[in-house]
Amino acid sequence: MPVRAGRHLSPWVETMSPPDLGSTAFRDVPADVVVIGAGITGITAALLLQRAGLRVVVVEAEQVGRSVTTASTVKVTFGHKTLYSTIEQGLGLDAAAAYAQANVAGFGQLLDLARSLSTDCMLEHGHPHIIYAEREDEVEQIQKEADVAQRIGLPVSLGHEAPVPFPVAAAVTFENQAHFHPGRYLAALAETFVREGGTVIEGVRARDVDEDGGVCQVDTTAGCLSAAHVVVATQYPFLDRGGQFAQLSARRSYGIAGVLPDGVPAGMTINVGSPTHSTRSATLGGEKLLIVVGEGHEVGHVTDSAERWVRLEQWAQERFGVTEFRNHWSAQETSTPDHVPFVGFIAPGSHRIYTATGYDGWGMTNGTAAAILIRDLIVGEHNPWAATFDARRAETSLPGKGFTKHNLHVAKTWVKDRVGGAPTGSLQDLRAGDAAVLDVSGERTAAYRGDQGELHMVSAVCTHMGCDVAWNDGEKSWDCPCHGSRFNYDGAVLHGPATSPLLPRSPE
Ligand code: FES
Repeated sequence: MPVRAGRHLSPWVETMSPPDLGSTAFRDVPADVVVIGAGITGITAALLLQRAGLRVVVVEAEQVGRSVTTASTVKVTFGHKTLYSTIEQGLGLDAAAAYAQANVAGFGQLLDLARSLSTDCMLEHGHPHIIYAEREDEVEQIQKEADVAQRIGLPVSLGHEAPVPFPVAAAVTFENQAHFHPGRYLAALAETFVREGGTVIEGVRARDVDEDGGVCQVDTTAGCLSAAHVVVATQYPFLDRGGQFAQLSARRSYGIAGVLPDGVPAGMTINVGSPTHSTRSATLGGEKLLIVVGEGHEVGHVTDSAERWVRLEQWAQERFGVTEFRNHWSAQETSTPDHVPFVGFIAPGSHRIYTATGYDGWGMTNGTAAAILIRDLIVGEHNPWAATFDARRAETSLPGKGFTKHNLHVAKTWVKDRVGGAPTGSLQDLRAGDAAVLDVSGERTAAYRGDQGELHMVSAVCTHMGCDVAWNDGEKSWDCPCHGSRFNYDGAVLHGPATSPLLPRSPE
């Protein structure tokens, strides 16, 4: 289904300038810590660690500011839909309180950093974030969330109002929250890190980390880096130790930005119903835009992803009167079975490799809180929420229900992919713009015919752990349903945990 209008980039990426980082070429400089990934977690951790007196190198597979951090609605809030009541139900009130404590700390740290930057990152503090129910049968979820939030000391109020141009049945309000421009924030944070002595390497993908005695070796596509500690801040950890990869579920969500008509209210909101619609407004390029993110699904589980943008546009038109659309883009988020991020040592036997992942779509405060926690672990400071977030629970105290459900699905997919019947169809059946997984000379082959009729063929076997990839028509990519890796139509890695491209295939 065609998308009506708009550019295939988030408005944040479109309105940011590349940071001035000096040379970002690969070089093996002396380091105490190598941080892999230059999203909000990686860059914040790098700066905090450097300010704690350590020598830090950041290595990023692409460019600073081109990651998932610049693909969300970008709310700086510790109101996370219904996560407090969800965590309380699964892990108890103390865990919900620890989650709140971490995110309030992340919120405060992010505001402090944003205010100290020399570049304007459009920080606005003081806006409410409202979580609302539209239907009567959703009201109880709002009441539960307000109840748990109040019991753990968060300043929330329960009511029936939300800054949207349609009625709501119930709403819980988190006052004094914030929003900003994530691309400009990350760019300025990275510039500050470099100005204060740090090193950023771009366009280099980390492939493995070896922890041996007192030193870690990071194998990258450009050479080896050494450091006493390594932080894996790549959203989905590409290292298959610690078991996090098997427990995380990866979801793809979609975003649109359109011109908000004068006088139409559009505050920071999110509904509890399905599909999700997370909103905020932002003035960019001289226009007041409505930003909506939602319509998510597990990665690789639908092929008609372009239709998700159409549905979001229809919703924005019907509810807010938006008729001119400027951008459409997509994002990826990961969730843990208990909805508390995995942050800390990557595996029970590991003392020098750290990970941070599973933010459930709430990456601004969780990512900043993770950076604080990793800084504390490396410098040996006590951190009060470390036990709740401990990434080693992926192996030691989970699985719970989420593990069973997700991995049952992964296992089924894997079995179906490996022993199921051969794909049907032929290359001749593919018309311009079509794609399919086909049997070509006995090999499962991911074939895409471009708009000019040219054929692109790669192996359909994901280089992470061997599941078959599935076509994503909106983004012209091959997506893996098992752990969320994504590949360009020519096989290049777009998103880990895979670190190697899909193998090329040629027609026989
Ligand atoms: Fe793990 Fe593809 S992402 S098998």
